[in-house]
Amino acid sequence: MGVIASFIGVYLPYITITIFTVGFIYRLAAWATIRSPVKIPVFPGQDSPGKSIARVLLDVALFRSLLRFPGNYILWAGSWIFHICFLLILLRHLRYFLYPVPSWVMAFQTVGIYAGLLILVPLLYLLLRRLVFADLRFISNFADYFALLLLISIASTGLILKFFSRVYVFDVKTMIMGLITLQPNPSVIPDSFWFLTHFFLVQLLLMILPFSKIMHLGGVFFSPTRIHYFEKGSHSIEVEE
Ligand code: HEM
Repeated sequence: MGVIASFIGVYLPYITITIFTVGFIYRLAAWATIRSPVKIPVFPGQDSPGKSIARVLLDVALFRSLLRFPGNYILWAGSWIFHICFLLILLRHLRYFLYPVPSWVMAFQTVGIYAGLLILVPLLYLLLRRLVFADLRFISNFADYFALLLLISIASTGLILKFFSRVYVFDVKTMIMGLITLQPNPSVIPDSFWFLTHFFLVQLLLMILPFSKIMHLGGVFFSPTRIHYFEKGSHSIEVEE
């Protein structure tokens, strides 16, 4: 077992989890402690905590903010399909992390493969629109392209593993279970370039996540325009006769 393989399969996962957990909690804590005394729900706004919760949940599930401006239907479809595929892929991957594998995880195995194939379509669309349209190119920076290229690379190396360069998934599971139980076992790390690349890129994604725009997965729950609600009478103005 090479030095690089043991680093990626034994040491890096613990560094990754530490950076991810500390970074994630730090970002959430920073948002949670920002003072925002002025209520700024977006018109027509919600007027109770229950309606705020419903609004956040609907926005998260349906990506309604992307539909706010006419003509964004393709962007909406691309983003929504990407997120659903990502979720299905993660559900399929849960078989590496759970023992025994629950039947509901088994139910996602086939659809997870299709999601792995389909996810490249919205990802390539999200990348191309930034490259093709001058206004989007102008507001795109390195971090935008990096996140998309990283996700494309993770999905592509996963598909190579699935269809062209198989590894023994029992070893993958033994490796993951060893990491989870703090008894890493270097001898079961698949000695495969594509597996090590896939696993490394996933860890890179986790390490940059708290410090990147992908952190919107936590930030959406702290967005003032979504979570604030009008307190009755707080925005009425007394007009002198
Ligand atoms: C600890 C995390 C992960 C591990 C250990 C892992 C491992 C693997 C392995 C071993 C395969 C080949 C499966 C087979 O031969 O049947 C695979 C496939 C794949 N992986 Fe991952 N992966 C991880 C995370 C991810 C993530 C975050 C994505 C997100 C895009 C992803 C996307 C894919 C895709 C699209 C495939 C091909 C379809 C499939 O077999 O599911 N993987 N992964």
